[in-house]
Amino acid sequence: MKAKNNPVGDTENNLEAVVALAKRRGFIFQGSEIYGGLAGTWDWGPLGVALKNNIKQSWWKRFVESREDIFPVDTAILMNQKVWQASGHVGGFADPLVECNKCHKSFRADHVPQVDGVATDVCPECGKGKLEARQPFNMMFKTQVGVGGGNDSAASERDASVSYLRPETAQGMFVNFKNIIDSLHPRLPFGMAQIGKAFRNEIAPRDFLFRVREFEQMEIEYFIRESDWEKTFEMWRVEMKNWLAELGLGGGDASGGKSGENAGGKVHELEVAAEDRAHYSKRTIDFEFDFPFGRKELCGLAYRTDFDLRNHSTASGVDLSYFDEQTGERFIPHVIEPTVGVDRLALALLCSALTEDTMGDGGATGAASDNAEKRLFLKLPPEIAPVRIAVFPLLKNKPELVAKAREVYDMLRKVPGLSGRVAFDDNGNIGKRYRRQDEIGTPECVTIDFQTLEDQTVTVRDRDTGGQKRVAIGELDIK
Ligand code: GAP
Repeated sequence: MKAKNNPVGDTENNLEAVVALAKRRGFIFQGSEIYGGLAGTWDWGPLGVALKNNIKQSWWKRFVESREDIFPVDTAILMNQKVWQASGHVGGFADPLVECNKCHKSFRADHVPQVDGVATDVCPECGKGKLEARQPFNMMFKTQVGVGGGNDSAASERDASVSYLRPETAQGMFVNFKNIIDSLHPRLPFGMAQIGKAFRNEIAPRDFLFRVREFEQMEIEYFIRESDWEKTFEMWRVEMKNWLAELGLGGGDASGGKSGENAGGKVHELEVAAEDRAHYSKRTIDFEFDFPFGRKELCGLAYRTDFDLRNHSTASGVDLSYFDEQTGERFIPHVIEPTVGVDRLALALLCSALTEDTMGDGGATGAASDNAEKRLFLKLPPEIAPVRIAVFPLLKNKPELVAKAREVYDMLRKVPGLSGRVAFDDNGNIGKRYRRQDEIGTPECVTIDFQTLEDQTVTVRDRDTGGQKRVAIGELDIK
């Protein structure tokens, strides 16, 4: 069996194939599609929800549940506008903007095509106009909380009601730092974690889920003493790298290798230059992925110093320092921040998983045949695949096979962690059912046949190899 990852020959089409499969099989749809869509928004269907939940659960289990030093929170999306003033987002969360003086289309200045390494000033849209610099564009979505003032005399009331859809989940954690200290009394180092929606009014959303206007983040703010920042940064670099490797996106080894090395596969570490770092960061590593449209940031790790806690302390007048009872010292902790975009990671996993090969396991019995045919399948890690296992009765019109298959299906749904991840399919011949499950990335399919009724064994068929083995029902070991 020959397998290749880039199914339709070139990388651009690989993205098209992912988008097409995602729509065809109910993973992801264009947002507001029946009204012509809304740029930078996507809606998640049943299999997409399952995929996203599995990604979030993997992160949650590894970085929250299995650790004693991480405190989860779920904070409001809307926050007092003073949060965003103090964090520097009102003043500085802006992209450089250029606009064509003929067709008036706007572009991010740093995304304009380059000629000999220099950004062109000819409009890439109409080809006639000249691109001219505009005021930097703040990417936060501004909104109003409550009624506010309805006329000019109530302008100050209106200003006071301004809020923003959060552009990062991080700030919800910084402003709750004192609440966690006061209610749970953790000792440094410790972290706060949250998964939630973030919104950015991107000038040019593009590349499917890569750059969108509404997305989910999984973030940790890890509070430390300043003197520990380098070793803690390294600890989180290795943690992130190993988790990505576990998801099949890198080689990864126990030590995590050295900073700056290729993470051992499809993920590469980029030491971000000072001029490209966010306003709060003293060191940033981007974990980049080889997307079909180029090597781009997948997720990141930043040393935010004490920038956020110090600014919120000053702006709110509330003391956000930490008191070390053992040493008697009081200080504002520094922060290391591992951050991951769920949508971007889902895209990386789908691109990485999409595979084409030829396989000959059609036919009613599911036995390998000479009629090898091409198939497109998702080689997703079992932990991430929306459906973990599918159960088939060999024949739909044999009630005894269907009843036994239902019994096995119900049994598997009771296995902890599997309840919503078992599929039942009796539609069409076995070969077609395998193809359907392959296409959505189901790692294993179980078939109940006449032998099952005699000896309580089933066939278990492997997605990647097409290989089948006979296993006693009681010995089905699905994790
Ligand atoms: N709290 C730090 C922070 O927000 P960031 O690098 O701006 O840092 C973190 O964003 C992650 O969020 C990115 O690495 C990416 O995975 C995801 N992300 C950011 N902007 C995005 C967008 N417009 N569409 C999809 N994902 C995005």
